[in-house]
Amino acid sequence: MHFALNDHQQKLQLLVRDFAVRSVAPGVVERDEGEFFSRELYDEAGAMGLAGLCFPAAYGGSGAGYLSFILAAEELSRTDDSLAASLSASVLLCQWPICHYGTEQQKQQYLKPLAEGRRLGAFALTEPNAGTDAAAQQTTAVRTGDDYLLNGSKIFITNGGEAETYVVFAMTAPEKGTRGLSAFLLTKGMPGFTFGKTEKKLGIRGSVTRELLFNEVRIPAENLLGQEGQGFKIAMAALDGGRIGVAAQAVGIGQAALDYAAGYARDRRQFGRPIAENQGISFMLADMATRLEAARLLTYRAAWVRDQGGNCAKEAAMAKLAASDAAMAITTDAVQIFGGYGFSREYPVERLLRNAKITQIYEGTNQVQRMVIASAILR
Ligand code: CAA
Repeated sequence: MHFALNDHQQKLQLLVRDFAVRSVAPGVVERDEGEFFSRELYDEAGAMGLAGLCFPAAYGGSGAGYLSFILAAEELSRTDDSLAASLSASVLLCQWPICHYGTEQQKQQYLKPLAEGRRLGAFALTEPNAGTDAAAQQTTAVRTGDDYLLNGSKIFITNGGEAETYVVFAMTAPEKGTRGLSAFLLTKGMPGFTFGKTEKKLGIRGSVTRELLFNEVRIPAENLLGQEGQGFKIAMAALDGGRIGVAAQAVGIGQAALDYAAGYARDRRQFGRPIAENQGISFMLADMATRLEAARLLTYRAAWVRDQGGNCAKEAAMAKLAASDAAMAITTDAVQIFGGYGFSREYPVERLLRNAKITQIYEGTNQVQRMVIASAILR
């Protein structure tokens, strides 16, 4: 067992860090305050190859692997978790299922431009009445000749309206429950496929979260992803990977909060000395660093298991649970260390705290992660 990253992974970390400092950091506050997604920035990340890290060269990727993508997501999240969330939604939830369940034609047509960073993807599972209970889907797809007719809606869709390619889940046989769900590939502009409300959010405001509306959308049968009835498994398998991405985001947010808090504790003087000289502060920093490192190790291990091709449902759930709880605790303590300044929007830690919260919620609440972990150990 060895814990060192290889040369390629270390170079990738430096490359992404440089991109984050040079291009991402300058507008991060503006995007958060203005609540807008920057497609230019996404395109720049795409041109660097970040959307193709875990896909084969034949489909526009570099084959660097899952762990490499996780390292890139972590680095980006240290500066702007919104951009990492948009990238991860496209790569892990839209591109990954196309790579693993798509036909050769679907991979060439949809995956390649996404992996090359020329298009943006989205994953549409959640509905108003199908959140944690993902099987309670009301969107339907009815086979009519060579097409399916899609009707329904989706909410809370990351990249909704901005993405060109969508993996959409719909019931093809509602009476079969989880075995009646199917996955489809949709493209922006299909007649009947429109966009509804854009969410106004607590955090990750530089990413778009929007409603999708389907009114008699005619989907060619060739756009079925995988087999009819395989949709629930496709969604769960994609979310296994997505959850490692959320864990990586949480680790990046936690690292940023720890760095800011440690820097502030060294510089801020009260009672004639740096506040870091008080054990009340330095022990907080020690606990933050320890918790962060534990979360990072779980995250990298889950990514490694995914790279080996094994079932990583339990490892991914553990990584997301531990890392998101760590990010929430670390950002809360960072705000505390900054005192009144931490509560001010002039300083970055309040934004990190707001961004951390979603990592405990999306891609399965932490209560769902406990269900997944418990079911794996009680099997
Ligand atoms: N991989 C492959 N198959 C899986 C699987 C996995 N990780 N997990 C479950 N399955 C299979 C099961 O083996 C079972 O198969 P069989 O029918 O052959 O037996 C089938 O799926 C049904 O499994 P369950 O009985 O466990 O399903 P359930 O209805 O009890 O649900 C759940 C379990 C864990 C609660 C699941 O519903 C869940 O994960 N819910 C949360 C959904 C979620 O994460 N939503 C987030 C959406 S994305 C988002 O946040 C927004 C965005 O834009 C990013």
